[in-house]
Amino acid sequence: MSQEPFKVAIAGLGTVGGGTVKVLRDHADVIAKRCGRPVVISAVSALSKDGLDFDVSGYEWYGDAVDMANNCDADLLVELIGGSDGIAKTVVEAALSAGRHVVTANKALVAHHGAALDKLAEENNVSLNYDAAVAGGIPVIKTIRESLAGNNITKVQGILNGTCNYILTTMREEGRDFADVLKDAQELGYAEADPTFDIEGIDAAHKLAILASVAFGVEINFKDVHVEGITHVSAVDIQFAEELGYRIKLLGVALRHNGTVEQRVHPTMVPLSAPISQVEGVFNSTVIDGDAIDTLVLVGRGAGELPTASAVVGDICDIARGLSVPTFSVPVNELKQVPTRAMSEHVGAYYVRLSLMDEPGVFADVAAALRDHNVSMEAMIQRGREKGKPVPVVMTTHETSEANMTAALAAIEALDKVVEPPRMIRIENA
Ligand code: HSE
Repeated sequence: MSQEPFKVAIAGLGTVGGGTVKVLRDHADVIAKRCGRPVVISAVSALSKDGLDFDVSGYEWYGDAVDMANNCDADLLVELIGGSDGIAKTVVEAALSAGRHVVTANKALVAHHGAALDKLAEENNVSLNYDAAVAGGIPVIKTIRESLAGNNITKVQGILNGTCNYILTTMREEGRDFADVLKDAQELGYAEADPTFDIEGIDAAHKLAILASVAFGVEINFKDVHVEGITHVSAVDIQFAEELGYRIKLLGVALRHNGTVEQRVHPTMVPLSAPISQVEGVFNSTVIDGDAIDTLVLVGRGAGELPTASAVVGDICDIARGLSVPTFSVPVNELKQVPTRAMSEHVGAYYVRLSLMDEPGVFADVAAALRDHNVSMEAMIQRGREKGKPVPVVMTTHETSEANMTAALAAIEALDKVVEPPRMIRIENA
Protein backbone atom coordinates (compact mmCIF):
# COMPACT_ATOMS: atom_id res chain seq x y z
CA MET A 1 0.00 0.00 0.00
CA SER A 2 1.26 3.48 -0.86
CA GLN A 3 1.66 5.36 2.41
CA GLU A 4 1.06 8.76 0.74
CA PRO A 5 -2.26 9.82 2.32
CA PHE A 6 -5.08 11.20 0.22
CA LYS A 7 -6.12 14.45 1.94
CA VAL A 8 -9.70 15.65 2.18
CA ALA A 9 -11.12 19.04 3.20
CA ILE A 10 -14.77 19.29 4.24
CA ALA A 11 -16.73 22.52 3.78
CA GLY A 12 -19.91 22.44 5.86
CA LEU A 13 -20.30 20.42 9.08
CA GLY A 14 -24.08 20.04 9.26
CA THR A 15 -25.86 16.68 9.20
CA VAL A 16 -24.09 15.26 6.12
CA GLY A 17 -20.75 16.92 6.93
CA GLY A 18 -20.82 15.37 10.41
CA GLY A 19 -21.75 11.97 8.91
CA THR A 20 -18.84 12.22 6.46
CA VAL A 21 -16.36 12.98 9.28
CA LYS A 22 -17.70 9.99 11.25
CA VAL A 23 -17.61 7.51 8.33
CA LEU A 24 -14.08 8.53 7.27
CA ARG A 25 -12.90 8.40 10.92
CA ASP A 26 -14.66 5.18 11.99
CA HIS A 27 -13.86 3.19 8.83
CA ALA A 28 -10.37 4.59 8.23
CA ASP A 29 -8.69 1.15 8.26
CA VAL A 30 -10.93 -0.57 5.75
CA ILE A 31 -11.08 2.55 3.55
CA ALA A 32 -7.25 2.62 3.43
CA LYS A 33 -7.18 -1.04 2.37
CA ARG A 34 -9.87 -0.51 -0.25
CA CYS A 35 -8.22 2.60 -1.68
CA GLY A 36 -4.64 1.37 -1.43
CA ARG A 37 -3.70 4.43 0.64
CA PRO A 38 -4.92 6.20 3.79
CA VAL A 39 -7.72 8.71 3.24
CA VAL A 40 -7.45 11.44 5.88
CA ILE A 41 -9.31 14.63 6.70
CA SER A 42 -6.80 17.47 6.74
CA ALA A 43 -9.06 20.53 6.99
CA VAL A 44 -12.65 21.44 7.84
CA SER A 45 -14.71 24.58 7.60
CA ALA A 46 -17.96 25.79 9.16
CA LEU A 47 -19.37 29.02 10.54
CA SER A 48 -18.86 27.81 14.12
CA LYS A 49 -17.68 24.84 16.20
CA ASP A 50 -20.72 25.21 18.49
CA GLY A 51 -22.97 22.16 18.67
CA LEU A 52 -20.64 19.74 16.85
CA ASP A 53 -20.95 16.21 18.30
CA PHE A 54 -17.55 15.08 16.99
CA ASP A 55 -13.98 16.16 17.57
CA VAL A 56 -12.39 18.44 14.96
CA SER A 57 -9.26 19.32 16.96
CA GLY A 58 -7.04 17.18 14.70
CA TYR A 59 -8.00 19.07 11.52
CA GLU A 60 -6.94 22.49 10.29
CA TRP A 61 -9.90 24.79 11.00
CA TYR A 62 -11.11 27.46 8.56
CA GLY A 63 -13.89 29.91 9.38
CA ASP A 64 -14.01 30.83 5.68
CA ALA A 65 -14.67 27.98 3.23
CA VAL A 66 -13.36 29.97 0.24
CA ASP A 67 -10.08 30.52 2.09
CA MET A 68 -9.93 26.75 2.67
CA ALA A 69 -10.71 25.98 -0.99
CA ASN A 70 -7.88 28.28 -2.08
CA ASN A 71 -5.24 27.58 0.55
CA CYS A 72 -5.57 24.20 2.30
CA ASP A 73 -3.30 21.25 1.51
CA ALA A 74 -6.12 18.84 0.53
CA ASP A 75 -6.28 16.85 -2.72
CA LEU A 76 -10.08 16.93 -2.63
CA LEU A 77 -12.71 19.28 -1.24
CA VAL A 78 -16.14 18.08 -0.14
CA GLU A 79 -18.83 20.77 -0.51
CA LEU A 80 -21.73 20.28 1.91
CA ILE A 81 -22.88 23.87 2.31
CA GLY A 82 -25.88 23.75 -0.03
CA GLY A 83 -27.69 26.23 -2.27
CA SER A 84 -27.43 26.73 -6.01
CA ASP A 85 -25.40 29.93 -5.85
CA GLY A 86 -23.56 32.06 -3.35
CA ILE A 87 -20.86 30.59 -1.15
CA ALA A 88 -21.27 26.95 -2.26
CA LYS A 89 -20.68 27.83 -5.91
CA THR A 90 -17.72 30.10 -5.06
CA VAL A 91 -16.13 27.37 -2.93
CA VAL A 92 -16.50 24.69 -5.63
CA GLU A 93 -15.16 27.00 -8.34
CA ALA A 94 -12.19 27.97 -6.13
CA ALA A 95 -11.36 24.34 -5.31
CA LEU A 96 -11.55 23.19 -8.95
CA SER A 97 -9.48 26.18 -10.11
CA ALA A 98 -6.88 25.32 -7.45
CA GLY A 99 -6.60 21.81 -8.95
CA ARG A 100 -8.53 20.02 -6.21
CA HIS A 101 -11.08 17.30 -6.93
CA VAL A 102 -14.58 18.09 -5.66
CA VAL A 103 -17.27 15.88 -4.18
CA THR A 104 -20.64 17.50 -3.47
CA ALA A 105 -24.11 16.50 -2.28
CA ASN A 106 -25.54 19.78 -3.62
CA LYS A 107 -28.28 18.95 -6.16
CA ALA A 108 -29.31 22.57 -6.65
CA LEU A 109 -25.75 23.59 -7.52
CA VAL A 110 -25.27 20.70 -9.96
CA ALA A 111 -28.72 21.17 -11.54
CA HIS A 112 -28.14 24.88 -12.14
CA HIS A 113 -24.41 25.00 -12.93
CA GLY A 114 -23.39 21.40 -13.72
CA ALA A 115 -22.09 21.98 -17.25
CA ALA A 116 -20.01 25.06 -16.31
CA LEU A 117 -18.50 23.30 -13.28
CA ASP A 118 -17.83 20.19 -15.38
CA LYS A 119 -15.94 22.37 -17.87
CA LEU A 120 -13.88 23.90 -15.06
CA ALA A 121 -13.09 20.44 -13.68
CA GLU A 122 -11.96 19.20 -17.09
CA GLU A 123 -9.80 22.31 -17.65
CA ASN A 124 -8.07 21.63 -14.34
CA ASN A 125 -7.82 17.88 -14.92
CA VAL A 126 -9.74 17.01 -11.75
CA SER A 127 -12.95 15.09 -10.97
CA LEU A 128 -16.35 16.41 -9.92
CA ASN A 129 -18.42 13.68 -8.22
CA TYR A 130 -21.96 14.15 -6.87
CA ASP A 131 -23.58 10.77 -6.22
CA ALA A 132 -24.98 12.00 -2.88
CA ALA A 133 -26.87 14.76 -4.71
CA VAL A 134 -29.38 12.32 -6.23
CA ALA A 135 -31.34 9.92 -4.02
CA GLY A 136 -28.90 10.20 -1.09
CA GLY A 137 -27.43 6.79 -0.29
CA ILE A 138 -28.60 5.09 -3.53
CA PRO A 139 -25.56 4.86 -5.86
CA VAL A 140 -27.58 5.79 -8.93
CA ILE A 141 -25.08 8.16 -10.58
CA LYS A 142 -22.29 5.61 -10.22
CA THR A 143 -24.59 2.88 -11.53
CA ILE A 144 -25.50 4.86 -14.66
CA ARG A 145 -22.02 6.31 -15.32
CA GLU A 146 -20.13 3.06 -14.76
CA SER A 147 -22.15 -0.14 -14.43
CA LEU A 148 -24.59 0.75 -17.24
CA ALA A 149 -22.00 2.33 -19.56
CA GLY A 150 -22.76 -0.33 -22.18
CA ASN A 151 -26.46 0.51 -22.35
CA ASN A 152 -28.57 2.78 -24.44
CA ILE A 153 -30.70 4.22 -21.62
CA THR A 154 -34.23 5.15 -22.68
CA LYS A 155 -35.98 5.99 -19.42
CA VAL A 156 -35.09 6.93 -15.85
CA GLN A 157 -37.75 7.46 -13.25
CA GLY A 158 -38.01 7.45 -9.53
CA ILE A 159 -39.21 8.50 -6.15
CA LEU A 160 -36.63 11.21 -5.57
CA ASN A 161 -37.95 12.99 -2.50
CA GLY A 162 -38.29 11.20 0.83
CA THR A 163 -40.31 13.98 2.47
CA CYS A 164 -43.05 13.71 -0.16
CA ASN A 165 -42.99 9.91 -0.06
CA TYR A 166 -43.35 9.99 3.74
CA ILE A 167 -46.31 12.41 3.48
CA LEU A 168 -48.09 10.38 0.76
CA THR A 169 -47.49 7.10 2.61
CA THR A 170 -48.82 8.50 5.89
CA MET A 171 -51.85 10.08 4.18
CA ARG A 172 -52.72 6.66 2.73
CA GLU A 173 -52.03 4.58 5.84
CA GLU A 174 -53.83 6.93 8.23
CA GLY A 175 -56.45 8.42 5.90
CA ARG A 176 -55.33 11.95 6.81
CA ASP A 177 -55.09 15.15 4.79
CA PHE A 178 -51.96 16.70 3.35
CA ALA A 179 -51.68 19.75 5.66
CA ASP A 180 -52.10 17.65 8.78
CA VAL A 181 -49.40 15.12 7.79
CA LEU A 182 -47.02 17.89 6.67
CA LYS A 183 -47.18 19.34 10.18
CA ASP A 184 -46.19 15.94 11.61
CA ALA A 185 -43.35 15.60 9.10
CA GLN A 186 -41.99 18.97 10.22
CA GLU A 187 -42.21 17.99 13.89
CA LEU A 188 -40.36 14.73 13.14
CA GLY A 189 -37.64 16.63 11.27
CA TYR A 190 -38.40 15.00 7.88
CA ALA A 191 -39.61 18.27 6.36
CA GLU A 192 -37.83 21.61 6.64
CA ALA A 193 -39.45 24.57 8.45
CA ASP A 194 -39.85 25.95 4.90
CA PRO A 195 -40.84 22.77 3.02
CA THR A 196 -41.40 24.51 -0.35
CA PHE A 197 -38.55 22.83 -2.25
CA ASP A 198 -39.73 19.38 -1.18
CA ILE A 199 -43.53 19.61 -1.43
CA GLU A 200 -43.58 21.71 -4.60
CA GLY A 201 -41.40 19.14 -6.38
CA ILE A 202 -38.39 21.42 -6.92
CA ASP A 203 -35.93 19.17 -5.04
CA ALA A 204 -37.07 16.18 -7.11
CA ALA A 205 -36.80 18.26 -10.30
CA HIS A 206 -33.16 19.14 -9.50
CA LYS A 207 -32.40 15.44 -9.15
CA LEU A 208 -34.35 14.46 -12.27
CA ALA A 209 -32.54 17.03 -14.44
CA ILE A 210 -29.21 15.58 -13.26
CA LEU A 211 -30.35 12.00 -13.95
CA ALA A 212 -31.50 12.92 -17.47
CA SER A 213 -28.10 14.43 -18.24
CA VAL A 214 -26.11 11.43 -16.99
CA ALA A 215 -28.44 8.87 -18.56
CA PHE A 216 -28.89 10.48 -21.99
CA GLY A 217 -25.63 12.43 -22.44
CA VAL A 218 -27.46 15.76 -22.68
CA GLU A 219 -26.68 19.08 -21.06
CA ILE A 220 -28.68 19.61 -17.86
CA ASN A 221 -31.85 21.59 -18.52
CA PHE A 222 -33.48 22.16 -15.14
CA LYS A 223 -35.51 25.20 -16.14
CA ASP A 224 -37.63 23.21 -18.63
CA VAL A 225 -38.55 20.36 -16.27
CA HIS A 226 -42.35 20.23 -15.85
CA VAL A 227 -42.90 20.41 -12.08
CA GLU A 228 -46.02 19.80 -9.98
CA GLY A 229 -45.82 19.12 -6.24
CA ILE A 230 -48.08 17.15 -3.92
CA THR A 231 -50.00 19.97 -2.23
CA HIS A 232 -53.21 19.20 -4.19
CA VAL A 233 -53.20 15.45 -3.59
CA SER A 234 -56.21 14.64 -1.41
CA ALA A 235 -56.97 11.71 0.86
CA VAL A 236 -59.96 10.86 -1.33
CA ASP A 237 -57.75 10.51 -4.44
CA ILE A 238 -55.41 8.24 -2.50
CA GLN A 239 -58.37 6.02 -1.51
CA PHE A 240 -59.77 5.86 -5.06
CA ALA A 241 -56.28 5.07 -6.40
CA GLU A 242 -56.06 2.08 -4.07
CA GLU A 243 -59.49 0.88 -5.17
CA LEU A 244 -58.44 1.08 -8.83
CA GLY A 245 -55.22 -0.86 -8.15
CA TYR A 246 -52.78 2.06 -7.98
CA ARG A 247 -50.71 4.01 -5.46
CA ILE A 248 -49.96 7.73 -5.73
CA LYS A 249 -46.27 8.69 -5.72
CA LEU A 250 -44.43 11.90 -6.53
CA LEU A 251 -42.51 10.55 -9.52
CA GLY A 252 -39.73 12.11 -11.55
CA VAL A 253 -39.76 10.73 -15.10
CA ALA A 254 -37.16 11.34 -17.82
CA LEU A 255 -37.59 9.79 -21.28
CA ARG A 256 -35.43 10.06 -24.35
CA HIS A 257 -37.29 10.61 -27.63
CA ASN A 258 -35.97 11.20 -31.11
CA GLY A 259 -34.52 14.74 -30.82
CA THR A 260 -36.19 15.66 -27.52
CA VAL A 261 -36.12 14.72 -23.86
CA GLU A 262 -39.24 14.48 -21.71
CA GLN A 263 -38.66 15.57 -18.10
CA ARG A 264 -41.49 15.79 -15.62
CA VAL A 265 -42.13 15.65 -11.88
CA HIS A 266 -45.73 15.24 -10.71
CA PRO A 267 -48.01 13.12 -8.53
CA THR A 268 -48.43 9.86 -10.43
CA MET A 269 -50.59 6.77 -10.08
CA VAL A 270 -48.42 3.66 -10.38
CA PRO A 271 -49.86 0.12 -10.50
CA LEU A 272 -49.68 -1.80 -7.23
CA SER A 273 -47.85 -4.54 -9.15
CA ALA A 274 -44.91 -2.18 -9.92
CA PRO A 275 -42.01 -2.50 -7.43
CA ILE A 276 -41.83 1.28 -7.04
CA SER A 277 -45.41 1.37 -5.66
CA GLN A 278 -44.17 -0.60 -2.64
CA VAL A 279 -41.42 1.91 -1.78
CA GLU A 280 -42.86 3.69 1.24
CA GLY A 281 -42.02 6.26 3.90
CA VAL A 282 -38.78 8.20 3.56
CA PHE A 283 -37.27 5.69 1.12
CA ASN A 284 -36.30 6.65 -2.45
CA SER A 285 -36.18 4.48 -5.56
CA THR A 286 -34.86 4.80 -9.10
CA VAL A 287 -35.88 2.65 -12.06
CA ILE A 288 -33.62 2.63 -15.11
CA ASP A 289 -34.53 1.12 -18.51
CA GLY A 290 -31.61 0.21 -20.77
CA ASP A 291 -31.44 -1.84 -23.95
CA ALA A 292 -29.06 -4.40 -22.44
CA ILE A 293 -30.07 -4.40 -18.77
CA ASP A 294 -33.84 -4.27 -19.45
CA THR A 295 -35.07 -2.74 -16.15
CA LEU A 296 -33.05 -2.08 -13.01
CA VAL A 297 -34.68 -1.01 -9.73
CA LEU A 298 -32.69 0.56 -6.91
CA VAL A 299 -34.21 1.26 -3.49
CA GLY A 300 -32.66 2.90 -0.44
CA ARG A 301 -32.50 5.84 1.89
CA GLY A 302 -32.57 9.12 0.02
CA ALA A 303 -31.48 11.33 2.90
CA GLY A 304 -30.06 11.30 6.41
CA GLU A 305 -26.66 11.63 8.03
CA LEU A 306 -25.03 8.27 7.35
CA PRO A 307 -26.77 7.16 4.11
CA THR A 308 -25.81 10.43 2.42
CA ALA A 309 -22.32 10.31 3.94
CA SER A 310 -22.01 6.78 2.52
CA ALA A 311 -22.45 8.20 -1.00
CA VAL A 312 -20.03 11.07 -0.30
CA VAL A 313 -17.36 8.68 0.98
CA GLY A 314 -17.90 6.32 -1.98
CA ASP A 315 -17.15 9.24 -4.31
CA ILE A 316 -14.06 10.21 -2.29
CA CYS A 317 -12.77 6.61 -2.42
CA ASP A 318 -13.19 6.41 -6.21
CA ILE A 319 -11.03 9.51 -6.64
CA ALA A 320 -8.48 8.36 -4.03
CA ARG A 321 -8.12 5.13 -6.05
CA GLY A 322 -7.41 7.16 -9.17
CA LEU A 323 -10.72 6.39 -10.88
CA SER A 324 -11.73 9.18 -13.23
CA VAL A 325 -15.10 9.13 -15.01
CA PRO A 326 -16.61 11.95 -17.13
CA THR A 327 -18.85 14.03 -14.86
CA PHE A 328 -22.04 13.46 -16.88
CA SER A 329 -20.95 10.15 -18.48
CA VAL A 330 -19.36 11.78 -21.55
CA PRO A 331 -16.83 14.65 -21.85
CA VAL A 332 -18.43 18.07 -21.50
CA ASN A 333 -17.99 19.00 -25.18
CA GLU A 334 -19.88 15.80 -26.13
CA LEU A 335 -22.98 16.75 -24.10
CA LYS A 336 -25.83 17.50 -26.51
CA GLN A 337 -28.19 20.44 -26.09
CA VAL A 338 -31.53 18.75 -26.65
CA PRO A 339 -34.89 20.54 -26.26
CA THR A 340 -37.36 19.38 -23.65
CA ARG A 341 -40.58 17.99 -25.13
CA ALA A 342 -43.70 20.11 -24.43
CA MET A 343 -46.07 18.56 -21.88
CA SER A 344 -48.92 18.88 -24.41
CA GLU A 345 -47.13 16.13 -26.40
CA HIS A 346 -46.98 13.73 -23.46
CA VAL A 347 -48.91 10.54 -24.16
CA GLY A 348 -50.29 8.51 -21.27
CA ALA A 349 -53.32 7.32 -19.34
CA TYR A 350 -55.10 9.53 -16.83
CA TYR A 351 -57.18 9.41 -13.65
CA VAL A 352 -59.86 12.08 -13.35
CA ARG A 353 -62.08 12.93 -10.38
CA LEU A 354 -65.22 14.98 -10.92
CA SER A 355 -67.67 16.45 -8.49
CA LEU A 356 -71.05 16.59 -10.21
CA MET A 357 -74.80 16.68 -9.68
CA ASP A 358 -76.13 13.17 -10.37
CA GLU A 359 -78.98 14.05 -12.72
CA PRO A 360 -80.21 12.46 -15.97
CA GLY A 361 -77.90 13.10 -18.89
CA VAL A 362 -74.84 14.29 -16.97
CA PHE A 363 -72.77 11.20 -17.78
CA ALA A 364 -73.75 11.54 -21.42
CA ASP A 365 -72.43 15.13 -21.42
CA VAL A 366 -69.14 14.07 -19.78
CA ALA A 367 -68.80 11.17 -22.26
CA ALA A 368 -69.47 13.55 -25.16
CA ALA A 369 -66.70 15.91 -23.98
CA LEU A 370 -64.28 12.98 -23.85
CA ARG A 371 -65.40 11.71 -27.28
CA ASP A 372 -65.08 15.19 -28.84
CA HIS A 373 -61.42 15.34 -27.74
CA ASN A 374 -60.52 11.78 -28.66
CA VAL A 375 -60.22 10.52 -25.07
CA SER A 376 -61.34 6.93 -24.45
CA MET A 377 -62.62 6.00 -20.98
CA GLU A 378 -61.31 2.81 -19.36
CA ALA A 379 -63.21 2.57 -16.04
CA MET A 380 -65.56 4.63 -13.90
CA ILE A 381 -66.64 4.57 -10.25
CA GLN A 382 -69.45 6.49 -8.60
CA ARG A 383 -70.22 6.16 -4.91
CA GLY A 384 -73.34 7.25 -3.04
CA ARG A 385 -76.01 9.73 -3.94
CA GLU A 386 -77.64 12.34 -1.72
CA LYS A 387 -80.47 14.35 -3.22
CA GLY A 388 -79.38 17.89 -4.09
CA LYS A 389 -75.69 17.29 -3.29
CA PRO A 390 -72.78 16.68 -5.67
CA VAL A 391 -71.25 13.19 -5.87
CA PRO A 392 -67.65 12.22 -6.61
CA VAL A 393 -67.16 10.34 -9.88
CA VAL A 394 -63.77 9.00 -10.84
CA MET A 395 -62.60 7.53 -14.12
CA THR A 396 -59.47 6.27 -15.77
CA THR A 397 -58.71 6.72 -19.45
CA HIS A 398 -56.82 4.78 -22.08
CA GLU A 399 -53.67 6.42 -23.49
CA THR A 400 -54.18 9.82 -25.07
CA SER A 401 -52.18 13.00 -25.51
CA GLU A 402 -52.00 15.60 -22.76
CA ALA A 403 -53.32 18.17 -25.25
CA ASN A 404 -56.47 16.04 -25.77
CA MET A 405 -56.90 15.46 -22.05
CA THR A 406 -56.51 19.15 -21.19
CA ALA A 407 -59.10 20.15 -23.81
CA ALA A 408 -61.54 17.46 -22.61
CA LEU A 409 -61.17 18.61 -18.99
CA ALA A 410 -61.83 22.23 -19.97
CA ALA A 411 -65.03 21.14 -21.74
CA ILE A 412 -66.11 19.05 -18.72
CA GLU A 413 -65.41 21.92 -16.30
CA ALA A 414 -67.69 24.15 -18.39
CA LEU A 415 -70.70 21.81 -17.92
CA ASP A 416 -73.48 23.18 -15.65
CA LYS A 417 -73.70 20.07 -13.53
CA VAL A 418 -69.97 19.84 -12.81
CA VAL A 419 -69.51 21.82 -9.61
CA GLU A 420 -65.70 21.82 -9.04
CA PRO A 421 -62.70 21.91 -11.37
CA PRO A 422 -61.83 18.29 -12.28
CA ARG A 423 -58.77 16.79 -10.56
CA MET A 424 -56.40 14.95 -12.91
CA ILE A 425 -53.50 12.60 -12.03
CA ARG A 426 -51.26 10.98 -14.65
CA ILE A 427 -50.86 7.19 -14.67
CA GLU A 428 -47.42 5.66 -15.33
CA ASN A 429 -46.53 2.01 -15.76
CA ALA A 430 -43.41 2.45 -13.61
N1 HSE B 1 -35.16 16.88 1.24
C1 HSE B 1 -34.81 15.71 0.50
C2 HSE B 1 -35.87 14.65 0.68
C3 HSE B 1 -33.50 15.10 0.92
O1 HSE B 1 -36.83 14.84 1.42
O2 HSE B 1 -35.75 13.62 0.06
C4 HSE B 1 -32.35 15.85 0.38
O3 HSE B 1 -32.43 15.94 -1.01
